Amino acid sequence: MTAVQQPAPTHPAQTHPAPTGAAHTPSRRVVVSAVGAAGLAAVLAACGDSDDQTPQPGEDTTGGTGEGEVLAPTSDIPEGGGTVFKEQGVVVTQPTAGEFKAFSSTCTHQGCTVRDVAEGTINCPCHGSRFDLADGSVAAGPAPRPLPATQITVEGDSIRLA
Ligand code: FES
Repeated sequence: MTAVQQPAPTHPAQTHPAPTGAAHTPSRRVVVSAVGAAGLAAVLAACGDSDDQTPQPGEDTTGGTGEGEVLAPTSDIPEGGGTVFKEQGVVVTQPTAGEFKAFSSTCTHQGCTVRDVAEGTINCPCHGSRFDLADGSVAAGPAPRPLPATQITVEGDSIRLA
């Protein structure tokens, strides 16, 4: 009589009965993260309905600087002098009564912001360049070029960037 023997396990897969699809089963952490992301997306979508950022007709979408921005009333610009608007990068001058000019406030030498307008010139504090307040031309170096003109509009007693 022959005894029926079960073959001894020889293959590693038979000795470790882990499921063969384990590598493709998502871990608990992955599942939680996926649900969390989906939940976050749902919350953000819900918030989007009440956070309407569509510009309305006539609304200023320039961010408060740039084209059309009011710089100052004309009375703030001294006759024969000028005012530096550092934030806007502009210097506005009034060479003669009622005549307004504007230039970049960035010195053409090494890029400093001009400091003031005095004694008929726009003055850079860094190396002493001076520019004519009427046309921005170089009155004293080392600046190699005039200050570029900036467009402005004067409406009534208000000066705006054009
Ligand atoms: S940066 Fe203005 S004079 Fe040098």
